[in-house]
Parts: sequence; structure tokens; C-alpha cells
Amino acid sequence: MAKKNDFSSLKIAKEIKQRIEEEFPTLMALATTPPDEVVRRCEINKSSAERAVHQARKLIGMSEPITAAELLEKRMTKPRITTSSQQLDEILGGGIAVGAITEFSGAFSTGKTQLAFQLCINVQQPLEEGGLNGKALFIDTENTFAPTRVAEMSYSYTDEPKEFLENIFVTRAYNADHQIQIVQKADRLIQTNEIRLIVVDSMASHFRAEFPGKDNLPRRQQMLMAHAETLQRLAESYELAIMTTNQILSNPDSIFSGSGSLEPALGFAWGHRPTHRILLRKSRGTIRIARIFDSPELAEREAVFHITPQGIRDGPPLDY
Ligand code: GTP
Ligand code: MG
Repeated sequence: MAKKNDFSSLKIAKEIKQRIEEEFPTLMALATTPPDEVVRRCEINKSSAERAVHQARKLIGMSEPITAAELLEKRMTKPRITTSSQQLDEILGGGIAVGAITEFSGAFSTGKTQLAFQLCINVQQPLEEGGLNGKALFIDTENTFAPTRVAEMSYSYTDEPKEFLENIFVTRAYNADHQIQIVQKADRLIQTNEIRLIVVDSMASHFRAEFPGKDNLPRRQQMLMAHAETLQRLAESYELAIMTTNQILSNPDSIFSGSGSLEPALGFAWGHRPTHRILLRKSRGTIRIARIFDSPELAEREAVFHITPQGIRDGPPLDY
């Protein structure tokens, strides 16, 4: 389904087909991309792009509706990436979902980056151990990727951390435009390397720094929406998980119940995009509390986890 790759059935000129195949490794990737983006990326005219996209959609049966029962079956059988904390996995419905964007928000030191590192290791585990047998792409906007820490965490699984480090592709994003471009150009990297997890740590920093204040808001929102759309497309086309991190803001008018006045940054335009949103907060010492904050299918529950030298682990049970 998602990995269908038979471009030979497309009835379009050979030269155009070649250009499209260079940019889009699967029919699903082509079928889910807006024709305008195909025009830009492949440097072909609009009618050819539309023809190619429409044919790709038909070939993979993308517009055929499925029943809610089939949808449920699909969701239930989708693999998830374990967080290495059973409690946290449980409130997430079994771990980090593929085909969706999962956002972790929290103040500094709440464990967002540590969780991201743990997922980069765990995605490489076999299915029966809570992984996806795949690799990770880590988009680092704050220059905080720490290979020594990832190596330290991987000692729980291997004496040879290099094996794990070799399966994590790290790209430093220098500004918002660069961050967007990395994601837009990720198709080939994902397909060639069997990437099943993309981390964006953090989603917010460049956008907030480069587009401050009300005057810049429309432009920022527009860029964020397009960026989110590309991420969601990748999640669905390649059945991979997307984990983003976000900062939090104090908003006395917050409409989110139970969050105090704290809510994730980037406002409503971005806020609608992640499928699951989780808020992290500190407890004593190395203990952290995760709370499902906004999700169409997960209840508003909390879980406790520990940041240990070995990585993320279960915390003590909640005492309420
Ligand atoms: P910001 O990026 O600043 O917003 O914070 P964050 O939420 O990404 O925090 P991060 O995940 O970087 O760190 C959370 C906590 O993990 C820190 O307060 C430390 O207690 C712990 N931590 C970070 N690095 C290490 C490490 O190498 N070993 C151990 N044992 N703990 C660490
Ligand atoms: Mg961080």
C-alpha cells in the first residue's frame, strides 16, 4: 500500500516521469503531495504535475473510502515505538504512533530531548521489542543533539553503541526556512534508509525567534501550516512516527483545562496539527510527569517517568 512503487503505470512523458521519480521515491509520496509542490520540485508544468498526481492517487486507490471498522482495524494493528516507560506507553495507547505527529511540550529540562534520544534508539529495535526495525532522522534546531548521551543510553542494548549511532541521521537546521527545506527534501533519504522516526527538536525555536510579534504572525502561521502539512504527509506516506518538541508559554486566558495557564507555544495554527499533544512537567529530582493534553483518541491521563543514566525508565506510581 504505502510503499507501492510502480511508476511504469503512469501515462506521462518519459522525461517528466524521470524527473518525478527523482524527487518522489513512491507513488504514495507523489499522490499525497500538492500538485503545486510537484511543479516546484520537479520543474515541470502544472498540467503534467496534476496528471501525474491524479493518476498516482487512482493507482493506489487513495480516494476510495474505507469503513470505520476497517479504519479501526488499521489503527489497532499499527506498530508503535516504545518510550522505555511502560506507564508512558500506556497513556499513549502503546507508544508513539506511526502515521501521526506526537508533540511533547514542556519547560526547559522537562525531558523533551532525552525522550527524543530514547526514541531514536528504540525505533531501531525489532517489532517484538517495541521498535520498528528502522532508522531515525533527527532535525536539530538548537544544536543539542548529544551523541555521547545517545551512546550512553544504548549501552542497555549493546556493547557497541556505534551500531545505534550509525542509524541516526542528524541534520542541523539553521533557520526556519532551512528546517522546512530539510523536511521537504526528506523523501529520498527516508526511502533509501528505511527511516521510521523523524524528530524535530524543537519545532518552535526558529519560528519564534525569526517571526516575533503580532505583525509577523500571519507569515509565521502560513509557514508553520505548510511545514506541518509536509510532516503529516511524510508520516502517512511512509508510515513513520513524527515526534516534535515545543516550548510552553504562560497564557492566563488558556482554554485548555487542567493545564494551569501553561500551554504549548506556536498558537492555534500549529496547535491543530499534532495528532497527540503531551505536556511534560518536573517533579522532584529526575522524576517527570507527562500528561495527555490534546488528542482525538487518548484520554487525559498522566504518567510518571524517570530520566536515569541509562535513559528513560518508569517512574514511581502516581500517588493519587
Ligand atoms: P530544553 O531543551 O532546555 O527546553 O529542555 P528539555 O526538555 O529538552 O530537557 P532535556 O531532555 O535536555 O533534559 C532533561 C533532564 O535530563 C535534565 O534536567 C537532566 O536532569 C537530564 N539529563 C540530561 N542529560 C543527561 C545525561 O547525560 N545523563 C543523565 N543521567 N541525565 C541527563
Ligand atoms: Mg531540549
